[in-house]
Amino acid sequence: MDVSSAIQKRRSIRKYKAKEIPHDLLMETLEGARLAPSGANRQPWQLIVVTDAERKRGLVPICKDQKFIADCSAFIAGVDDPSQKWARVDVSIALEHIALMAVEKGLGTCYIGAFDGEKLAAYLGIPKPYVVTVGMTLGYPDESPEARSRKPVAELLHWERYGGGE
Ligand SMILES: Cc1cc2nc3c(=O)[nH]c(=O)nc-3n(C[C@H](O)[C@H](O)[C@H](O)COP(=O)(O)O)c2cc1C
Repeated sequence: MDVSSAIQKRRSIRKYKAKEIPHDLLMETLEGARLAPSGANRQPWQLIVVTDAERKRGLVPICKDQKFIADCSAFIAGVDDPSQKWARVDVSIALEHIALMAVEKGLGTCYIGAFDGEKLAAYLGIPKPYVVTVGMTLGYPDESPEARSRKPVAELLHWERYGGGE
C-alpha cells in the first residue's frame, strides 16, 4: 500500500474484533515508531504496550470510561519527558507512523487523549518526570466508518504570510 492510500483509508476505529495480533505483526507495526523522525534525532519516546485483557479493562475508567479500549488488541501509551523541547511533537509523530503502518497491515487505531494523566502514569508505573502524551488503541477493525469531515483546504492554507490568498 502506498502512503497516500494509507492516509486516505485511515479512520479512528472504536470497534474491534476479539482477535490477538500475532507478535511479529505487532512488532512490524511498532517499527513505524522506531523509524520516526525526532528533534536532533533524540528519539525521546517510550512506548508502553498493554495487551493483557485485565490490564486493558483497567484502563477504561482511567480513560473517561471509553469502553472500546478494553476490546482493542493492544493499547499503546506514548510516553515522553515533557521538559524536553520537542518531546510531545516527537512522540505524536511516532504514533502517527504506527497509525499509518497499521492501515497497511489491515489493523485499525484510535488516538486516546481523554484520560486522567496522573492515574494513567500510576497505573502504568511510569517514573517521574515522564508523562503519557497520548495513547492509541490498536486492533482488527470491526467497523468501516465513513471518512469524517475535514475543513476545506482554503481554511487551512495561507500563502506567503498569514491571511495570504492564492
Ligand atoms: C490527540 C488526539 C486525541 C484523541 N482522543 C480521542 C479519545 O480519547 N477518544 C476517541 O474516541 N477518539 C479520540 N481521538 C480521535 C478523534 O476524535 C478523530 O481523529 C477525529 O474525530 C477524526 O476522525 P478520524 O480519525 O476517523 O479521521 C483523538 C485524536 C487525536 C489526534
